[in-house]
Amino acid sequence: MKTRINSLELAYDDHGIGQPLIFLHAFPLNRSMWEYQTRSLLAEQRFRLVTLDWRGFGESDIAADISTMEDFADDVAGLMAQLGMQQAILCGLSMGGYAAFAFLRKYSRRVSALILADTKPEADDAVTQASRAQVAQLVLSEGTSAIADQQIPRLLSAYTREQQPDVELRVRHMINGALAQGIAAAARGMAQRADATDLLATIDCPMLVIAGEHDSITPPSMARSWAEQIADAQIAVIPRAGHLSNLEQPEAFTTVIHNFLYSL
Ligand code: MLT
Repeated sequence: MKTRINSLELAYDDHGIGQPLIFLHAFPLNRSMWEYQTRSLLAEQRFRLVTLDWRGFGESDIAADISTMEDFADDVAGLMAQLGMQQAILCGLSMGGYAAFAFLRKYSRRVSALILADTKPEADDAVTQASRAQVAQLVLSEGTSAIADQQIPRLLSAYTREQQPDVELRVRHMINGALAQGIAAAARGMAQRADATDLLATIDCPMLVIAGEHDSITPPSMARSWAEQIADAQIAVIPRAGHLSNLEQPEAFTTVIHNFLYSL
């Protein structure tokens, strides 16, 4: 489905009835990365499951040269308003987590619970900011397949790359489906994102932190250290997964979020 939010055509899916649960995708993928989780949870007939493509990804349009995490948060808030949702559980992975932190800063009362996977609250350091500028330059000069070649080794575990070539193909397909301008704009937006560590002590909704065992970008040790700063946060590590833990080990990831959701 498509709808106009904040002057852009954004694509989303909305299935089921029950407690609203919105999934926020990683960079530089799209909402189809949540297919396994939404299909499994839909069968339980307990949740209203929403996925959206960030501006410039999947089937969503883009107009600007930068997509800030606040832009993404405003798009989620706009979609919630259109769908008549006062509150929702947010489930964000990596850049989806950065957007969830921006949403939390602006719209904290609209979050009923949080699931944050393979992400972190810290802002980028200077080295990472410089590499984001290179990503933007690379995608605009050489296209999305150059980004797929560059990103896949950092996104997936060695186990996934050796044992599950279909997962790598899917990720490549999603990256190739993004707009070059969308990838460049999100890379610039991530580089500028605010540090969210000050928010950790203020989080008072139920919270689950997930990390892939072999995530080299946001490893389990990093997840533990920031999760410890949140009152009563649960933490789970997904064996054999890298950074894209929900795609690499979909069953294990879904079991973990299922158990969390049923504990609410
Ligand atoms: C993501 O998976 O969203 C990105 O790897 C995030 C990042 O590069 O920090």
